[in-house]
Amino acid sequence: MPARSRGSKLHGRQNVHVEVEPRTVFAGRILYRGRIIPAELGVSEEGRILKVAPSVRGGRRVDLGEALLLPSAIDLHVHFRDPSPPGSVEDFQSGTVQAALGGVGAVVDMPNTDPPTTSVERLEEKGDRFRAKAEVDGLLLAALRTETRVEELAAQGAGFKLYMAPTTGDLAAPPGTDLRPLLERVARTGAPVHVHAEDPRLFQEGLYAVDPEGWAAKRPARSEISAVRSLLPLAEGLRLHLAHATTVEAVELARGAGWSVEATPQHLLLAATAHQDARWKVNPPLRSVAERDALFGSFKTGRVTMLASDHAPHALSEKERPFPEAPSGMPGVETMLPLLLEKVRSGDLALPTLVAAAARRPALFLGLPRGHLAAGMEANFLVVDFRDKTRIRARDLHAPCGWTAFEGREGIFPRAHYLRGRQIVEDGEFVGDHTGLLLSRGDGAGASLPAAPTPRTAPRPSSSPNPSSAPSVPSPSA
Ligand code: DOR
Ligand code: ZN
Repeated sequence: MPARSRGSKLHGRQNVHVEVEPRTVFAGRILYRGRIIPAELGVSEEGRILKVAPSVRGGRRVDLGEALLLPSAIDLHVHFRDPSPPGSVEDFQSGTVQAALGGVGAVVDMPNTDPPTTSVERLEEKGDRFRAKAEVDGLLLAALRTETRVEELAAQGAGFKLYMAPTTGDLAAPPGTDLRPLLERVARTGAPVHVHAEDPRLFQEGLYAVDPEGWAAKRPARSEISAVRSLLPLAEGLRLHLAHATTVEAVELARGAGWSVEATPQHLLLAATAHQDARWKVNPPLRSVAERDALFGSFKTGRVTMLASDHAPHALSEKERPFPEAPSGMPGVETMLPLLLEKVRSGDLALPTLVAAAARRPALFLGLPRGHLAAGMEANFLVVDFRDKTRIRARDLHAPCGWTAFEGREGIFPRAHYLRGRQIVEDGEFVGDHTGLLLSRGDGAGASLPAAPTPRTAPRPSSSPNPSSAPSVPSPSA
Protein backbone atom coordinates (compact mmCIF):
# COMPACT_ATOMS: atom_id res chain seq x y z
CA MET A 1 0.00 0.00 0.00
CA PRO A 2 1.70 3.22 -1.08
CA ALA A 3 1.98 6.08 1.36
CA ARG A 4 -0.72 8.63 0.80
CA SER A 5 0.12 12.17 -0.17
CA ARG A 6 -1.28 15.08 1.73
CA GLY A 7 -3.94 16.16 -0.73
CA SER A 8 -7.24 16.87 0.99
CA LYS A 9 -10.88 17.13 0.06
CA LEU A 10 -13.59 19.10 1.76
CA HIS A 11 -16.63 17.00 2.63
CA GLY A 12 -20.03 18.61 2.79
CA ARG A 13 -20.21 21.51 5.17
CA GLN A 14 -18.37 19.71 7.92
CA ASN A 15 -14.89 20.73 6.99
CA VAL A 16 -13.58 17.18 7.31
CA HIS A 17 -10.32 16.56 5.47
CA VAL A 18 -9.71 13.11 4.05
CA GLU A 19 -6.52 11.96 2.42
CA VAL A 20 -6.77 11.72 -1.37
CA GLU A 21 -4.50 9.44 -3.32
CA PRO A 22 -3.02 10.84 -6.55
CA ARG A 23 -4.46 9.10 -9.58
CA THR A 24 -1.31 9.90 -11.55
CA VAL A 25 2.18 11.08 -10.69
CA PHE A 26 4.01 13.04 -13.39
CA ALA A 27 7.79 13.19 -13.02
CA GLY A 28 9.80 15.83 -14.87
CA ARG A 29 11.25 19.27 -14.18
CA ILE A 30 9.44 22.43 -13.24
CA LEU A 31 10.21 26.11 -13.00
CA TYR A 32 10.41 27.02 -9.36
CA ARG A 33 11.47 30.45 -8.14
CA GLY A 34 13.34 31.18 -11.34
CA ARG A 35 15.16 27.84 -11.41
CA ILE A 36 14.45 24.58 -13.20
CA ILE A 37 14.34 21.73 -10.70
CA PRO A 38 13.32 18.08 -10.84
CA ALA A 39 9.85 17.59 -9.39
CA GLU A 40 6.86 15.28 -9.35
CA LEU A 41 3.22 16.29 -9.57
CA GLY A 42 0.59 14.17 -7.85
CA VAL A 43 -2.72 14.66 -9.67
CA SER A 44 -6.16 13.62 -8.44
CA GLU A 45 -8.87 11.79 -10.37
CA GLU A 46 -10.62 15.15 -10.88
CA GLY A 47 -7.46 16.68 -12.36
CA ARG A 48 -6.25 18.79 -9.43
CA ILE A 49 -2.63 18.98 -8.38
CA LEU A 50 -2.49 17.44 -4.92
CA LYS A 51 1.18 17.78 -4.30
CA VAL A 52 4.39 19.01 -5.90
CA ALA A 53 7.54 17.59 -4.37
CA PRO A 54 10.88 15.97 -5.27
CA SER A 55 9.10 12.63 -4.96
CA VAL A 56 5.39 11.81 -4.80
CA ARG A 57 4.10 8.29 -4.19
CA GLY A 58 0.92 6.63 -5.34
CA GLY A 59 -1.04 6.14 -8.53
CA ARG A 60 0.10 5.56 -12.08
CA ARG A 61 3.54 7.00 -12.85
CA VAL A 62 4.29 9.00 -15.99
CA ASP A 63 8.02 9.62 -16.31
CA LEU A 64 8.65 12.64 -18.51
CA GLY A 65 12.41 12.48 -18.11
CA GLU A 66 14.26 15.75 -18.43
CA ALA A 67 11.36 17.55 -20.08
CA LEU A 68 10.06 20.74 -18.57
CA LEU A 69 6.48 20.86 -17.29
CA LEU A 70 4.99 24.31 -17.77
CA PRO A 71 1.48 25.53 -16.98
CA SER A 72 -0.78 25.64 -20.04
CA ALA A 73 -1.10 29.11 -21.50
CA ILE A 74 -4.31 31.11 -21.27
CA ASP A 75 -5.07 33.19 -24.35
CA LEU A 76 -7.14 36.24 -23.41
CA HIS A 77 -7.98 37.13 -27.01
CA VAL A 78 -9.23 34.81 -29.77
CA HIS A 79 -11.81 35.11 -32.55
CA PHE A 80 -13.10 31.60 -33.19
CA ARG A 81 -15.87 32.84 -35.51
CA ASP A 82 -18.56 30.68 -33.95
CA PRO A 83 -21.31 31.33 -34.91
CA SER A 84 -20.58 32.48 -38.43
CA PRO A 85 -22.16 31.93 -41.85
CA PRO A 86 -21.45 28.64 -43.68
CA GLY A 87 -18.08 28.62 -45.39
CA SER A 88 -16.29 30.47 -42.62
CA VAL A 89 -12.74 29.37 -41.86
CA GLU A 90 -13.07 28.58 -38.17
CA ASP A 91 -15.33 27.31 -35.42
CA PHE A 92 -14.94 26.31 -31.78
CA GLN A 93 -13.73 22.84 -32.74
CA SER A 94 -10.96 23.89 -35.11
CA GLY A 95 -10.01 26.84 -32.93
CA THR A 96 -9.68 24.82 -29.74
CA VAL A 97 -7.69 22.06 -31.49
CA GLN A 98 -5.16 24.69 -32.58
CA ALA A 99 -5.13 26.05 -29.04
CA ALA A 100 -4.42 22.60 -27.58
CA LEU A 101 -1.54 22.00 -30.01
CA GLY A 102 -0.08 25.45 -29.30
CA GLY A 103 -0.09 24.88 -25.55
CA VAL A 104 -3.16 27.01 -24.81
CA GLY A 105 -5.51 25.39 -22.29
CA ALA A 106 -8.09 28.18 -22.07
CA VAL A 107 -9.22 30.98 -24.36
CA VAL A 108 -11.31 34.12 -24.06
CA ASP A 109 -13.45 34.38 -27.19
CA MET A 110 -14.46 37.72 -28.68
CA PRO A 111 -18.02 38.84 -29.47
CA ASN A 112 -17.59 40.07 -33.07
CA THR A 113 -19.06 36.89 -34.51
CA ASP A 114 -21.87 36.77 -37.07
CA PRO A 115 -24.32 37.35 -35.46
CA PRO A 116 -22.45 39.26 -32.75
CA THR A 117 -22.71 38.48 -29.03
CA THR A 118 -24.93 41.35 -28.01
CA SER A 119 -27.65 39.73 -25.89
CA VAL A 120 -28.06 37.13 -23.17
CA GLU A 121 -29.83 34.85 -25.65
CA ARG A 122 -26.89 34.99 -28.05
CA LEU A 123 -24.42 34.50 -25.23
CA GLU A 124 -26.29 31.39 -24.12
CA GLU A 125 -26.51 30.06 -27.65
CA LYS A 126 -22.79 30.64 -28.09
CA GLY A 127 -22.14 28.89 -24.79
CA ASP A 128 -24.07 25.84 -26.05
CA ARG A 129 -22.00 25.79 -29.22
CA PHE A 130 -18.81 26.03 -27.20
CA ARG A 131 -19.79 23.20 -24.87
CA ALA A 132 -20.64 20.98 -27.84
CA LYS A 133 -17.30 21.44 -29.59
CA ALA A 134 -14.57 22.63 -27.23
CA GLU A 135 -11.30 20.75 -26.80
CA VAL A 136 -9.86 23.32 -24.36
CA ASP A 137 -11.63 25.59 -21.89
CA GLY A 138 -13.12 28.94 -22.76
CA LEU A 139 -14.85 32.08 -21.56
CA LEU A 140 -17.05 34.34 -23.67
CA LEU A 141 -17.11 38.12 -23.85
CA ALA A 142 -20.15 40.18 -24.83
CA ALA A 143 -20.02 43.31 -26.97
CA LEU A 144 -20.34 46.58 -25.10
CA ARG A 145 -22.62 48.91 -27.02
CA THR A 146 -24.92 51.70 -25.93
CA GLU A 147 -27.96 49.42 -26.16
CA THR A 148 -26.24 46.55 -24.27
CA ARG A 149 -28.22 45.09 -21.37
CA VAL A 150 -25.17 45.50 -19.21
CA GLU A 151 -26.41 44.05 -15.91
CA GLU A 152 -27.75 40.80 -17.42
CA LEU A 153 -24.73 40.24 -19.62
CA ALA A 154 -22.31 41.02 -16.80
CA ALA A 155 -23.93 38.31 -14.72
CA GLN A 156 -23.69 35.71 -17.50
CA GLY A 157 -20.51 36.41 -19.47
CA ALA A 158 -16.84 36.83 -18.70
CA GLY A 159 -16.91 40.57 -19.30
CA PHE A 160 -17.15 42.96 -22.19
CA LYS A 161 -15.27 43.99 -25.28
CA LEU A 162 -15.36 47.65 -26.19
CA TYR A 163 -14.51 48.48 -29.80
CA MET A 164 -13.49 52.12 -30.05
CA ALA A 165 -12.83 51.96 -33.79
CA PRO A 166 -14.24 50.13 -36.80
CA THR A 167 -12.86 46.65 -37.42
CA THR A 168 -14.18 43.17 -38.33
CA GLY A 169 -17.80 42.91 -37.19
CA ASP A 170 -18.66 46.62 -37.10
CA LEU A 171 -19.31 46.84 -33.37
CA ALA A 172 -17.75 50.24 -32.74
CA ALA A 173 -19.93 53.01 -31.34
CA PRO A 174 -20.51 55.87 -33.78
CA PRO A 175 -17.87 58.60 -33.35
CA GLY A 176 -18.92 61.15 -30.77
CA THR A 177 -20.91 58.67 -28.67
CA ASP A 178 -20.84 59.57 -24.98
CA LEU A 179 -19.60 56.38 -23.33
CA ARG A 180 -19.84 57.70 -19.77
CA PRO A 181 -23.35 56.46 -18.86
CA LEU A 182 -22.59 53.03 -20.29
CA LEU A 183 -19.24 52.71 -18.52
CA GLU A 184 -20.74 53.84 -15.21
CA ARG A 185 -23.25 51.00 -15.45
CA VAL A 186 -20.49 48.51 -16.21
CA ALA A 187 -18.43 49.79 -13.27
CA ARG A 188 -21.32 48.98 -10.93
CA THR A 189 -21.31 45.35 -12.12
CA GLY A 190 -17.56 44.85 -11.57
CA ALA A 191 -17.23 43.17 -15.00
CA PRO A 192 -13.97 43.80 -16.85
CA VAL A 193 -13.85 45.67 -20.14
CA HIS A 194 -11.32 44.56 -22.76
CA VAL A 195 -10.59 47.64 -24.83
CA HIS A 196 -9.78 47.80 -28.52
CA ALA A 197 -8.08 51.18 -28.21
CA GLU A 198 -7.90 53.15 -31.43
CA ASP A 199 -9.29 56.68 -31.75
CA PRO A 200 -10.83 56.95 -35.23
CA ARG A 201 -10.75 60.75 -35.03
CA LEU A 202 -7.00 60.46 -35.60
CA PHE A 203 -7.21 58.09 -38.57
CA GLN A 204 -5.81 59.51 -41.80
CA GLU A 205 -8.92 58.85 -43.84
CA GLY A 206 -7.49 60.53 -46.94
CA LEU A 207 -4.52 58.20 -47.02
CA TYR A 208 -4.86 55.33 -49.49
CA ALA A 209 -2.97 52.48 -47.83
CA VAL A 210 -1.78 49.67 -50.08
CA ASP A 211 0.56 47.88 -47.67
CA PRO A 212 1.01 47.42 -43.91
CA GLU A 213 3.32 50.44 -43.69
CA GLY A 214 0.57 52.60 -45.16
CA TRP A 215 -1.97 50.93 -42.87
CA ALA A 216 0.15 51.92 -39.86
CA ALA A 217 0.24 55.52 -41.12
CA LYS A 218 -3.52 55.51 -41.72
CA ARG A 219 -4.29 54.17 -38.21
CA PRO A 220 -1.32 55.76 -36.43
CA ALA A 221 0.19 54.93 -33.05
CA ARG A 222 -1.06 58.20 -31.62
CA SER A 223 -4.65 57.05 -32.18
CA GLU A 224 -4.01 54.20 -29.72
CA ILE A 225 -2.58 56.57 -27.13
CA SER A 226 -5.46 59.00 -27.65
CA ALA A 227 -8.05 56.22 -27.22
CA VAL A 228 -6.54 55.15 -23.90
CA ARG A 229 -6.32 58.77 -22.76
CA SER A 230 -9.94 59.44 -23.68
CA LEU A 231 -11.13 56.65 -21.38
CA LEU A 232 -9.13 57.78 -18.35
CA PRO A 233 -11.67 60.35 -17.09
CA LEU A 234 -14.47 57.80 -17.54
CA ALA A 235 -12.70 54.91 -15.88
CA GLU A 236 -13.55 55.39 -12.22
CA GLY A 237 -14.27 52.03 -10.63
CA LEU A 238 -13.89 50.24 -13.95
CA ARG A 239 -11.72 47.23 -14.50
CA LEU A 240 -10.05 47.93 -17.82
CA HIS A 241 -7.82 45.75 -19.92
CA LEU A 242 -5.88 47.09 -22.89
CA ALA A 243 -6.10 44.57 -25.73
CA HIS A 244 -3.29 44.17 -28.31
CA ALA A 245 -1.11 47.10 -27.20
CA THR A 246 1.23 48.35 -29.93
CA THR A 247 3.09 51.22 -28.24
CA VAL A 248 5.04 51.62 -25.03
CA GLU A 249 3.31 54.96 -24.44
CA ALA A 250 -0.14 53.36 -24.42
CA VAL A 251 1.17 50.57 -22.18
CA GLU A 252 2.53 53.05 -19.65
CA LEU A 253 -0.55 55.25 -19.76
CA ALA A 254 -2.82 52.27 -19.17
CA ARG A 255 -0.62 50.82 -16.44
CA GLY A 256 -0.49 54.18 -14.69
CA ALA A 257 -4.28 54.11 -14.55
CA GLY A 258 -4.35 50.58 -13.13
CA TRP A 259 -5.33 48.74 -16.32
CA SER A 260 -3.95 45.36 -17.25
CA VAL A 261 -2.25 45.07 -20.62
CA GLU A 262 -1.80 42.40 -23.28
CA ALA A 263 0.42 42.28 -26.37
CA THR A 264 0.34 39.84 -29.28
CA PRO A 265 3.21 37.94 -30.92
CA GLN A 266 2.60 39.89 -34.13
CA HIS A 267 3.05 43.27 -32.44
CA LEU A 268 6.02 41.95 -30.43
CA LEU A 269 7.84 40.18 -33.28
CA LEU A 270 6.68 41.59 -36.64
CA ALA A 271 6.94 45.09 -38.07
CA ALA A 272 5.08 46.83 -40.89
CA THR A 273 6.89 47.10 -44.22
CA ALA A 274 5.95 48.14 -47.72
CA HIS A 275 6.71 44.64 -49.01
CA GLN A 276 4.06 42.71 -47.13
CA ASP A 277 0.61 41.93 -48.45
CA ALA A 278 -2.75 42.00 -46.66
CA ARG A 279 -1.92 38.93 -44.58
CA TRP A 280 0.02 41.39 -42.43
CA LYS A 281 -2.96 43.75 -42.21
CA VAL A 282 -4.25 43.82 -38.64
CA ASN A 283 -6.09 46.24 -36.36
CA PRO A 284 -4.38 47.93 -34.65
CA PRO A 285 -1.66 47.84 -37.33
CA LEU A 286 1.82 46.40 -37.05
CA ARG A 287 4.20 49.25 -36.22
CA SER A 288 7.77 50.25 -37.15
CA VAL A 289 10.82 48.18 -36.20
CA ALA A 290 11.70 50.73 -33.50
CA GLU A 291 8.20 50.69 -31.97
CA ARG A 292 8.10 46.90 -32.10
CA ASP A 293 11.50 46.60 -30.43
CA ALA A 294 10.43 49.03 -27.71
CA LEU A 295 7.26 47.00 -27.10
CA PHE A 296 9.28 43.79 -26.89
CA GLY A 297 11.54 45.58 -24.39
CA SER A 298 8.47 46.31 -22.25
CA PHE A 299 7.41 42.70 -22.52
CA LYS A 300 10.85 41.48 -21.43
CA THR A 301 10.74 43.57 -18.30
CA GLY A 302 7.19 42.47 -17.45
CA ARG A 303 5.69 45.94 -18.08
CA VAL A 304 3.39 44.36 -20.68
CA THR A 305 1.78 42.02 -18.23
CA MET A 306 0.12 39.46 -20.50
CA LEU A 307 0.48 37.69 -23.82
CA ALA A 308 -2.54 37.08 -26.09
CA SER A 309 -2.81 35.96 -29.71
CA ASP A 310 -5.69 38.00 -31.17
CA HIS A 311 -6.16 34.88 -33.32
CA ALA A 312 -8.32 36.30 -36.14
CA PRO A 313 -8.37 33.93 -39.11
CA HIS A 314 -9.52 35.09 -42.53
CA ALA A 315 -9.70 32.96 -45.66
CA LEU A 316 -6.76 33.40 -48.01
CA SER A 317 -9.21 34.38 -50.76
CA GLU A 318 -10.31 37.31 -48.54
CA LYS A 319 -6.70 38.29 -47.82
CA GLU A 320 -5.90 38.15 -51.55
CA ARG A 321 -8.34 40.94 -52.28
CA PRO A 322 -6.80 44.37 -53.02
CA PHE A 323 -5.18 45.64 -49.82
CA PRO A 324 -7.76 48.35 -49.02
CA GLU A 325 -10.65 45.85 -49.20
CA ALA A 326 -8.96 42.91 -47.50
CA PRO A 327 -10.07 42.22 -43.92
CA SER A 328 -7.76 42.74 -40.92
CA GLY A 329 -6.51 39.95 -38.70
CA MET A 330 -4.25 36.90 -38.69
CA PRO A 331 -4.38 33.43 -37.13
CA GLY A 332 -2.05 32.82 -34.19
CA VAL A 333 -3.38 30.75 -31.30
CA GLU A 334 -1.27 27.72 -32.31
CA THR A 335 1.97 29.68 -32.75
CA MET A 336 1.74 32.20 -29.87
CA LEU A 337 3.51 30.22 -27.18
CA PRO A 338 5.92 28.33 -29.51
CA LEU A 339 7.22 31.65 -30.94
CA LEU A 340 7.86 33.05 -27.47
CA LEU A 341 9.36 29.79 -26.18
CA GLU A 342 11.86 30.09 -29.02
CA LYS A 343 12.69 33.60 -27.73
CA VAL A 344 13.43 31.97 -24.38
CA ARG A 345 15.61 29.32 -26.01
CA SER A 346 17.59 31.95 -27.91
CA GLY A 347 18.18 33.91 -24.71
CA ASP A 348 16.05 36.95 -25.66
CA LEU A 349 13.41 36.39 -22.98
CA ALA A 350 13.46 34.98 -19.47
CA LEU A 351 11.33 31.88 -18.97
CA PRO A 352 9.70 33.16 -15.73
CA THR A 353 8.64 36.34 -17.54
CA LEU A 354 6.98 34.31 -20.30
CA VAL A 355 5.22 31.94 -17.90
CA ALA A 356 3.89 34.87 -15.88
CA ALA A 357 2.60 36.64 -19.02
CA ALA A 358 1.15 33.57 -20.73
CA ALA A 359 -0.28 31.64 -17.80
CA ARG A 360 0.01 32.98 -14.29
CA ARG A 361 -1.26 36.53 -14.73
CA PRO A 362 -4.11 35.63 -17.12
CA ALA A 363 -5.25 33.03 -14.55
CA LEU A 364 -5.25 35.64 -11.81
CA PHE A 365 -7.01 38.10 -14.11
CA LEU A 366 -9.77 35.54 -14.72
CA GLY A 367 -9.81 34.29 -11.12
CA LEU A 368 -9.12 30.70 -12.18
CA PRO A 369 -7.15 28.14 -10.14
CA ARG A 370 -4.55 27.45 -12.81
CA GLY A 371 -1.56 29.15 -14.40
CA HIS A 372 1.08 27.68 -12.16
CA LEU A 373 2.01 24.24 -10.97
CA ALA A 374 1.26 24.01 -7.27
CA ALA A 375 -1.04 22.08 -4.98
CA GLY A 376 -4.67 23.15 -5.34
CA MET A 377 -4.27 24.23 -8.96
CA GLU A 378 -5.77 22.38 -11.91
CA ALA A 379 -3.31 20.02 -13.59
CA ASN A 380 -3.21 21.90 -16.90
CA PHE A 381 0.33 21.62 -18.16
CA LEU A 382 2.64 21.22 -21.11
CA VAL A 383 5.63 19.01 -21.67
CA VAL A 384 8.30 21.12 -23.34
CA ASP A 385 11.77 20.22 -24.55
CA PHE A 386 13.85 23.17 -25.73
CA ARG A 387 15.65 20.92 -28.21
CA ASP A 388 12.40 20.68 -30.22
CA LYS A 389 13.09 23.73 -32.38
CA THR A 390 10.80 23.58 -35.43
CA ARG A 391 10.45 25.76 -38.50
CA ILE A 392 6.86 26.99 -38.64
CA ARG A 393 5.08 25.99 -41.84
CA ALA A 394 1.40 26.68 -42.48
CA ARG A 395 1.05 23.18 -43.92
CA ASP A 396 2.08 21.70 -40.56
CA LEU A 397 -0.32 23.89 -38.59
CA HIS A 398 -4.01 23.18 -38.04
CA ALA A 399 -5.61 26.48 -39.01
CA PRO A 400 -8.32 25.82 -41.61
CA CYS A 401 -7.45 29.19 -43.18
CA GLY A 402 -4.18 27.54 -44.24
CA TRP A 403 -1.70 30.40 -43.84
CA THR A 404 0.46 32.06 -41.20
CA ALA A 405 2.32 35.35 -41.12
CA PHE A 406 5.05 33.51 -39.19
CA GLU A 407 5.95 31.14 -42.05
CA GLY A 408 9.62 30.12 -41.79
CA ARG A 409 10.16 31.39 -38.24
CA GLU A 410 11.21 29.05 -35.52
CA GLY A 411 9.03 27.83 -32.70
CA ILE A 412 9.08 25.31 -29.88
CA PHE A 413 5.82 23.38 -29.76
CA PRO A 414 4.84 21.41 -26.68
CA ARG A 415 5.34 17.65 -27.01
CA ALA A 416 2.37 16.96 -24.80
CA HIS A 417 -0.49 18.86 -23.21
CA TYR A 418 -2.59 17.74 -20.24
CA LEU A 419 -5.88 19.34 -19.28
CA ARG A 420 -7.08 18.42 -15.77
CA GLY A 421 -4.59 15.57 -15.90
CA ARG A 422 -6.02 14.11 -19.16
CA GLN A 423 -3.75 14.06 -22.19
CA ILE A 424 -4.99 16.13 -25.11
CA VAL A 425 -1.71 16.33 -27.09
CA GLU A 426 0.74 13.45 -27.42
CA ASP A 427 3.98 13.63 -29.45
CA GLY A 428 2.71 16.84 -31.01
CA GLU A 429 -0.55 15.21 -32.17
CA PHE A 430 -4.00 16.11 -30.93
CA VAL A 431 -5.49 13.21 -28.95
CA GLY A 432 -8.21 15.02 -26.96
CA ASP A 433 -11.84 14.06 -26.70
CA HIS A 434 -14.02 17.08 -25.93
CA THR A 435 -12.22 17.89 -22.72
CA GLY A 436 -13.03 21.62 -22.89
CA LEU A 437 -15.34 23.34 -20.43
CA LEU A 438 -17.19 26.61 -20.65
CA LEU A 439 -15.93 28.63 -17.69
CA SER A 440 -16.99 31.75 -15.84
CA ARG A 441 -14.67 34.17 -14.13
CA GLY A 442 -13.71 32.91 -10.70
CA ASP A 443 -14.74 29.29 -11.41
CA GLY A 444 -13.18 27.01 -8.82
CA ALA A 445 -11.53 29.92 -7.05
CA GLY A 446 -12.54 28.42 -3.72
CA ALA A 447 -10.01 25.65 -4.24
CA SER A 448 -7.47 25.08 -1.51
CA LEU A 449 -4.61 27.52 -1.57
CA PRO A 450 -1.46 26.44 -3.34
CA ALA A 451 1.30 25.10 -1.16
CA ALA A 452 4.91 25.69 -2.09
CA PRO A 453 6.79 22.66 -3.35
CA THR A 454 9.91 21.58 -1.54
CA PRO A 455 12.73 23.18 -3.55
CA ARG A 456 15.67 21.07 -4.57
CA THR A 457 18.33 22.52 -6.78
CA ALA A 458 19.64 20.51 -9.65
CA PRO A 459 22.22 20.84 -12.40
CA ARG A 460 20.90 22.56 -15.46
CA PRO A 461 19.49 20.00 -17.90
CA SER A 462 20.72 20.12 -21.47
CA SER A 463 17.13 20.30 -22.70
CA SER A 464 16.45 23.60 -20.98
CA PRO A 465 17.67 27.15 -21.40
CA ASN A 466 19.49 28.78 -18.55
CA PRO A 467 16.89 30.51 -16.42
CA SER A 468 19.31 31.52 -13.68
CA SER A 469 20.02 34.94 -15.15
CA ALA A 470 16.28 35.50 -15.33
CA PRO A 471 14.45 37.52 -12.73
CA SER A 472 12.19 35.47 -10.50
CA VAL A 473 8.53 35.29 -11.49
CA PRO A 474 7.26 38.84 -11.24
CA SER A 475 4.48 39.61 -8.83
CA PRO A 476 1.25 38.28 -10.29
CA SER A 477 -0.71 41.49 -9.99
CA ALA A 478 -1.85 42.96 -13.25
O1 DOR B 1 -7.07 42.61 -36.93
C1 DOR B 1 -8.13 42.44 -36.33
N1 DOR B 1 -8.94 41.39 -36.62
N2 DOR B 1 -8.51 43.32 -35.39
C2 DOR B 1 -9.71 43.29 -34.84
O2 DOR B 1 -10.01 44.16 -34.07
C3 DOR B 1 -10.69 42.25 -35.21
C4 DOR B 1 -10.03 41.06 -35.80
C5 DOR B 1 -11.01 40.16 -36.50
O3 DOR B 1 -11.99 39.77 -35.86
O4 DOR B 1 -10.80 39.83 -37.66
ZN1 ZN C 1 -9.23 40.93 -31.63
